[in-house]
Amino acid sequence: MVSSNDPGWNNGKDAGKDGVSRRSFMVTLGASAAAASLSQAAQAALPKGQDAQPESDVRGPGETSLTLNVNGQSRTIKAEPATTLLDALRQKMGLTGPKEICDRGACGGCSVIINGNLVASCMMLAADAEGAAITTIEGLSKDGALDPVQESFIRHDALQCGYCTPGFVMAGRALLDKKPKPTLAEIKKALSGNICRCGTYTNVFNAILEASGQPPVMDSAPGA
Ligand code: FES
Ligand code: FES
Repeated sequence: MVSSNDPGWNNGKDAGKDGVSRRSFMVTLGASAAAASLSQAAQAALPKGQDAQPESDVRGPGETSLTLNVNGQSRTIKAEPATTLLDALRQKMGLTGPKEICDRGACGGCSVIINGNLVASCMMLAADAEGAAITTIEGLSKDGALDPVQESFIRHDALQCGYCTPGFVMAGRALLDKKPKPTLAEIKKALSGNICRCGTYTNVFNAILEASGQPPVMDSAPGA
């Protein structure tokens, strides 16, 4: 996933420098980009010389229908083109597992899995997720049974306030789906986009090691 350490990533520090916040930029960009791409598609489908009628085809700037495949269910919502996936999940679908903490791709609290990849949902437009398989932490348990990563977090007491925990669990799940037996170094790297202000990293790493069938290798507390 994108992290604030990625040199190619704007972490939002310059927001407001020119009087334009990330949010207002997204609102403008989302509406105009969606309008532009739909307008181009409509134009391309017409015989040469005939203008498209973009008004009826353009998405936004107001709310339009959006269908997302979330946790194996197809759900249709009304949302503006600039609605982030995180806002669509939390505010339109009531899926509050993904947390809004930094809202700029720097903490991993909003992590979801899209087509097998870990994604910061605060940094993706909901419209761009149409057609993809989205999994939130609400979708990890099966038939009432928690995911092994969730079970392991409980066993290792890998949380304090718990606010960052859904993001860490999703990062762990995404990693184990790709690499069932990661090394400690690989776990640390995979979770490097997630921040825990309570400092539960040791137990988080141990929880993921154990969920992968490997013994914990770090002491859970000084002297333990
Ligand atoms: S990375 Fe999305 S809320 Fe922090
Ligand atoms: S458990 Fe509190 S921020 Fe991680």
